[in-house]
Amino acid sequence: MTGTAHVAGGVAASAFLLPALGFAVGPIFDEHEQPWQDVIALDELPDDSYIPKTITLVTGVGQAGKSTVYLRKRNASIDKEPEDQYNQVIALSTRCMHLGCPVRYVSAAERFICPCHGGVYDFTGAVDGGPPVRPLDRFYTRITQAGRVEVGPRFSVNDELDRFSPRDPGEPLDGVGQYLYPSRPSIRKLDE
Ligand code: FES
Repeated sequence: MTGTAHVAGGVAASAFLLPALGFAVGPIFDEHEQPWQDVIALDELPDDSYIPKTITLVTGVGQAGKSTVYLRKRNASIDKEPEDQYNQVIALSTRCMHLGCPVRYVSAAERFICPCHGGVYDFTGAVDGGPPVRPLDRFYTRITQAGRVEVGPRFSVNDELDRFSPRDPGEPLDGVGQYLYPSRPSIRKLDE
């Protein structure tokens, strides 16, 4: 009788605890493979301003999986991080690195502005004011032989624009931040 009651209690507790545990731990192992997406002809991109384009971040969920990315050509007088095949076009995420609100590029100010808590980013996406903890995330880009620009996986950057595996908003990457906020095990940056 006692054993039966314990088993019944265990089953009842599992009914509550297992879904909660899965909800909490599941995202850590969630795999979001970012497909390469054709977005624009290289010739159509400026190197002194940004053009917004819509890309799909998560497939199979309709509009909810789409996001805006800001694109421009690399500009040698502005972009000082090491040049390679993945940054001939600069692609910035619109997700604010404070709490994730969508930022907007204001061309007159040459700044990205977040409407939620006043976060400001400069022309390169570096933090210029407010509470964001790191620069805007970026996307790998590549140029096809036909001169088309493709946008690939997202990565995060620190203040030096060194690349890191994607992190969530609110997770700094300078100093000990990169160790305090490791990336999810299933997500790695492309050139790692
Ligand atoms: S979410 Fe952008 S400043 Fe708070």
